[in-house]
This record gives sequence, structure tokens and C-alpha cells, in this order.
Amino acid sequence: MTSLTVPVLERDDALDWYRRNRKRSRSLFDMVRPSAYESRPIPLRHPPVFYEGHLPAFSFNKLVRETLGRPSINPDFERLFERGIDPTPGDPGAKATTERPGWPSRDEVQHFGSLCDDAVERALRTGELDVPGNPLLERGHAVWTILEHEPMHHETFAYILHRMPYANKVRPQNYQPPRDAEHPRLRRVEIPAGTATLGARRERVAFGWDNEFEETSVPVSAFECDVYPVTNREWMNFVRDGGPVPSFWIESDGAFKLLGAWEILPMLESAPVWVTNEQARAYASWCGRRLPTEAEYHRAAFGTPEGGERAFPWGDDPPRAEHGNFNWQSWDVAPAGAFPSGASAWGIFELIGNGWELTATPFAPFAGFRPHAVYPVYSADFFDGKHYVVKGASPVTPLAHIRRSFRNWYYADYPYLYSKFRTVAS
Ligand SMILES: [Fe+2]
Repeated sequence: MTSLTVPVLERDDALDWYRRNRKRSRSLFDMVRPSAYESRPIPLRHPPVFYEGHLPAFSFNKLVRETLGRPSINPDFERLFERGIDPTPGDPGAKATTERPGWPSRDEVQHFGSLCDDAVERALRTGELDVPGNPLLERGHAVWTILEHEPMHHETFAYILHRMPYANKVRPQNYQPPRDAEHPRLRRVEIPAGTATLGARRERVAFGWDNEFEETSVPVSAFECDVYPVTNREWMNFVRDGGPVPSFWIESDGAFKLLGAWEILPMLESAPVWVTNEQARAYASWCGRRLPTEAEYHRAAFGTPEGGERAFPWGDDPPRAEHGNFNWQSWDVAPAGAFPSGASAWGIFELIGNGWELTATPFAPFAGFRPHAVYPVYSADFFDGKHYVVKGASPVTPLAHIRRSFRNWYYADYPYLYSKFRTVAS
């Protein structure tokens, strides 16, 4: 058997990562003005108070209490902040879970958070975290779970902050609004038939979420793919022909502008348009084309003309800032084509970064799926045919989630996601 080199997470690195996560959480919650702490800018999402309690509660519950079997520190809060998955639209229970008669004060939430942090840090320093044969601890499973969970919420909290009125939030001091650039020329490339490798083999990666396993080979027929994502200018033609207005566009003085996270931005014509899966599909059929499948995305992003596959579109080097608009380099979309070093082997731009890539593939498990040991409901609740896979990354997707097998999923009409698309044809 060939020896496999899978990176091991050292205690010091885990502690460091945990503290970096906590620091970012704190900075995000500090952007909310006290008067808006219990507000819900996205109706079916919880208010900021919930998320500020949920992040430390999840880490404590999963690693310290459930996995290592240590005692509770505050059973009421551990339950109150247990699960951050939001209610389904139209669910009659939705109001009950999001509209509590009274949330704890921010001081109480932060005090609880610091108790959780102490317990989690103690566990990271001295707990038995890597126990072969124990599914919760095999290869540090519980530790990876809490460390990748927190930055997921940083991203989804950014969507919530985005929808908060400007008066209710404090903008980051170093914020720089994006600038438009020359509009890219419409180009398409032919991708010959080949095989796409989706997912990963458990023993080949240090960690993955349940929906990333097992590795799956998918034959893909030849198709033609847009080199650039569809831009705001291109979408404007669709709107003039009766197409829907994206939720990131606002009409002011008879012209469309962009709803930026921190201010109203001029229309960035050269930037990808952020839309829903449903809207993107409408645009694609208006052009006589369609959205790529998840496997076609993989061919375009990771396949090569020589028949091989890469770890990333640009090759096997780990992601760096020049490869794309991700990892909090920016709060906003950037002009299409701004990251040429991130292009794939076929010369296709920004398959990772600048907005998730919408696909036509309903979110479903690969053969060999097993629910995540530490967090069994992570994916399983969403295999309902109503969620669609998105791939790649948005400007606020952390480096930790930038890997070939990572999958994300949303409702077809979820309007708050930073998601772009390109069209393909058979
Ligand atoms: Fe969560």
C-alpha cells in the first residue's frame, strides 16, 4: 500500500486557528450597532444575538461535552444556542424559533462564550483529540469540525450584515469600495468529453464534511463553456427584455446601482452579476443555453487538456490572494477577469472566488455517504431535491473551505447568497 501524506493538525495550530476564528467572530458581531443586536435583517434568519452565542456553544457542545464527555457549563444556553440552521420558509415553527420573547443580554452571551472558549482551549491543549477507531475522534474529527464550522458562519453572517440597514452597522475602517474595469469580451471554450472526479477518498484528505465522500468518477460529454461569468452589463440586456432584477441591484434616480455591504455602489458593469439559481437558469434559457452540472464545473475547473486533474484551477499550489477574490480580501464583487493567475487549464476565469458558481445539480449524497459523526444532520436534512450545489468560493469564503471536494448548497430562490454563474451548451 502506498503511504499517504495527509496533514495532521497539531495542537498549537488548532489553538491558533480557534483563536483566529474567535477573533473574526468578535469583529463581525462588533459591526452590529447595539440597537440592532436582536434585529433580523433577513426574516427567516436568526438575529445576531443568536449567532454570537451559537458559535462558542457549538464548539463547546460538540467537542467538549458530546465528544470528550465533560460536564455542562450552562445547560440552558447550550440548548438555546445549539443549532444555527435556519427554519424552512413557510414552516409554522419558524416564528417560534426566531422570535423569542427575550434574548439574553450581550454581556450574558459574551460571558457564556468566554466560558465555552476556556473549556474548548483546555480541550485543545490537553484533551485526547486523535483516537483511532473512535469515529468522533479519528484523525481529529471533532476538532476539524468545530474549526471549519465557525468560519462557515462568518460567511453566512456576512450575508446577514449585508442586508442590515447602513445605519445599524459600523463599517470596517479599511473598507475600500470596488471599481469597475474594462468589460471582458464574451468568449467560450470547448471542453472535450472526459471524466470528472467529484468528492474525495476519506483516507486521502485530512478532513472533509460528510457530503464530500466517497470519491465519485463521473463521465462528462463534450460541452462549450463561458470563459467569464455573466456580468451585470450582460444581465442588463436580460432585464430590458423582461428578465428579473437581482436582489443586489437597487433602482435609484431611474438607474440601477449595486447594494454593497457598506454603501450603495455604482453599477459595476464588468463584474459578475450575483443572482439565484432560478434567475440564472432563466437567463441561460433566454440565451438558449443552460447552467453547468456539478460534474461539468469540475471538468472546467480541475480538468486539463492532457486528461489529468488538478487540485485547484490554477494547479496544485495552495490558494493565494492572486488566485481569486476569496478569503475576505474584499467584501464586494470584483470585475470579471481581475485574477488571471487563477484561470483553469482551459483558460476559464474565476471558477473559485468572486461568488459561488451556481450549478444545475440538486444537492444529493455520493455513493458511500455516511452522516458526519460529530454532526450527523449537517447534510442529511438537505437532500430534498430543493437545494442545488454551488461550488468555488465567494469573497468571504475562508481558505479552509477552498478545496476541490468542498460542496455548498442553497435553495433555488435564496436571494442573499454571493453567487454568480456562467452558461454552457452541449
Ligand atoms: Fe452552526
